[in-house]
Amino acid sequence: MHAAWDASTNEMHLHNGRISYLARVLEDGSFGHLYFGPTLRPGVSYAHLSRRPFLGFSNRLGDSVAREYPTGGSGDFRVPALAIEPADGSPVLHLAYRGNRVLAGKPGLRGLPTTYVEEDGEATTVEVLLVDEPSSVEVRLSYTVFEAYPVIARSAVIRNGGSAPVRVRCAMSAALDLPDAAWDLVTLDGTWSRERHVASRSLAPGRQSVGSLRGASSHEHNPFVVLKRPATTEEHGEAYGFGLVYSGNFRAEVEVDPFATARLRIGIEPDGFAWTLAPGEELVTPEAILVYAAEGLGELSDSTHRLFRRRLTRGRWRDRARPVLLNSWEGVYFDFTDDALVEMAAASRDLGVELFVLDDGWFGERDDDTSSLGDWVVDRRKLPGGLAPVARRVRELGLDFGLWIEPEMVSPRSRLFAEHPEWALGVPGRPRTESRHQLVLDLARPEVVDHLFGMLHEVLASAPISYVKWDMNRSLTEPFSASLPPDRQGELFHRHILGAYDLWRRLTDAFPDVLFESCASGGGRFDPGMLAFAPQTWTSDNTDAIERLAIQWGTSLAYPPSSMGAHVSAVPNHQVGRITSLATRAAVAFFGVFGYELDPRHLTEVERAAIRDQVAFYTAHREVLQYGRFHRLRSPFEGDRNTAAWMSIAEDARRAVVGWYRILNRADPGPERLRLRGLDPARRYRVTPWPAIGDRLELVNALVRGGDDLMHVGLFFEADRHEAPALGDFHARVFALDVEEDGPGA
Ligand code: GLA
Repeated sequence: MHAAWDASTNEMHLHNGRISYLARVLEDGSFGHLYFGPTLRPGVSYAHLSRRPFLGFSNRLGDSVAREYPTGGSGDFRVPALAIEPADGSPVLHLAYRGNRVLAGKPGLRGLPTTYVEEDGEATTVEVLLVDEPSSVEVRLSYTVFEAYPVIARSAVIRNGGSAPVRVRCAMSAALDLPDAAWDLVTLDGTWSRERHVASRSLAPGRQSVGSLRGASSHEHNPFVVLKRPATTEEHGEAYGFGLVYSGNFRAEVEVDPFATARLRIGIEPDGFAWTLAPGEELVTPEAILVYAAEGLGELSDSTHRLFRRRLTRGRWRDRARPVLLNSWEGVYFDFTDDALVEMAAASRDLGVELFVLDDGWFGERDDDTSSLGDWVVDRRKLPGGLAPVARRVRELGLDFGLWIEPEMVSPRSRLFAEHPEWALGVPGRPRTESRHQLVLDLARPEVVDHLFGMLHEVLASAPISYVKWDMNRSLTEPFSASLPPDRQGELFHRHILGAYDLWRRLTDAFPDVLFESCASGGGRFDPGMLAFAPQTWTSDNTDAIERLAIQWGTSLAYPPSSMGAHVSAVPNHQVGRITSLATRAAVAFFGVFGYELDPRHLTEVERAAIRDQVAFYTAHREVLQYGRFHRLRSPFEGDRNTAAWMSIAEDARRAVVGWYRILNRADPGPERLRLRGLDPARRYRVTPWPAIGDRLELVNALVRGGDDLMHVGLFFEADRHEAPALGDFHARVFALDVEEDGPGA
């Protein structure tokens, strides 16, 4: 057991040799927070970490007392975890401890995705029951400590134990009171095509938050934030990561009080949220993931990657090598015939590609984005025989076949909308705001989810489809469901995402062999909730190699390379018009789930040969690139912002792949070194530069060198004034490292 409840002191201690999480019942009956950080010796009391005795807030003096699930109205003036309008309308809640339960393993959460265990021995869960006596509101806090990860998973279930309805206005998944505020808040922010850029700011007095009101986790902010010490780097220093296993509206917020303590809370966005609980009903909050790292952001990301990869992602594709795909979108957009697709697939096969994906445009009468979403029937003008013959022809070529869908949407120009206008979200008497000419289906209605399941089940069963790209291309507006009474409209956003999860669950259960990739105009829903259903996500619609450096760097703070779709596309790039070499485009896309997004029929023989070489390189190193430990070496957000570098290394440190990127060239760039990480200092590695072009940069690095040498000295980048012009802008180099058994040193 990694958790204990000491009945004599009423203290909870979760620990696993790397972290400890401590809380205790305070003298006023509330559940106080004691500590979250490097592991502390179990079996002793840590009550001295809190104010003793604590008999309640005294309006001022007690302000900074740390609590596990804070409420307002009786002296704690910081942001609450829980706010409720009880039947009497009073805003006061005092949650007092009633009992606890320690169990092996980890229960799931009704209707919501969560991390999980495969055997009960992998984790211990403590459930703590708190009750507000006057209102009979009950809160069941759940804490799971994993044996193998420096992580606590938290959630809360709010239950109305009274005899009259109550309304929940705010129900966070977790709150964490930290004893000081000397932290930088790191967030992943952006917009369409510029997702998850890293932003960092020092905590300041008052509240600072990120979140989403868009109905999806959004391109703008990500439900994963970090608190790090100002001096923390990739390799050194403390950091906490906070993730929410949720894909809808969220808030991650830190409040710094006048005594310079910091309260973090993370959960469903309270703005616009109001959930009525009839007597006996429960509201289950999404799961929050709390990660601790003593040794830098690199360790924080590695711990999070491992957890997300092994115990959040599920299904048959979790640990399997992901195929190299070619997606039709940027190659032909909506304009294709069945023969054209088969020609593209044949050309892809010739390049070594393993999976051909037919993107948007195969259904209804969809020649552009103005129609047909909701009509999931094959467009016989383009595919006269339907999907099955195309899929079969593709498979006969030796490739798997994949398909794009966008289930949660409807086009006003569609049969579905003509038949069921009430199935689209909207407020009666007001116009519906269109975005990309489409409306959002009301997934709070079970009949809509049933209909979509039936229709999509038919599509996916109609042909040998082994991959699905599930898209979601707009935010929610007019968030109103005619199926809910006026006083329950505040439930719509959450009910909508619960409906989406229900559909995801039913379709992924029905097609367990299919590899699902989630997408929301690129990375608008790249979140831990989606990862529980789809092991990979289309990282961004931006396929430019240089822009992708920042996007993939930021994404890697929380999400493993095996979750990041990354494709080589044509130049000039369709999003930014930039021209980069084929090698640079591949050198960036290698560090994710690799593929192509172009028309393979229009390549020169030289390009075809280069792509064959890329696919061969990727498939030879795929295990390391998809499932190795990812080290961020040089940030595109720091320093001169002109270089970036990262590497992936196998668990046993016998193989690694390094990527180095220089954005703009210089006339006489001078010497530079790139120190590597994670190698075995006692072993020797053969360094093989890719692609092989035979220049000096290649020759000076193509050596057998010690792991110590490569980590303490590093790879060399130098070009004199005569060599520099050949490198040009947007230059990238990849290096494969393999342990030499008894090889001679350099
Ligand atoms: C979204 C996706 C793209 C593509 C288009 C198709 O924008 O992010 O990759 O699938 O939709 O309409």
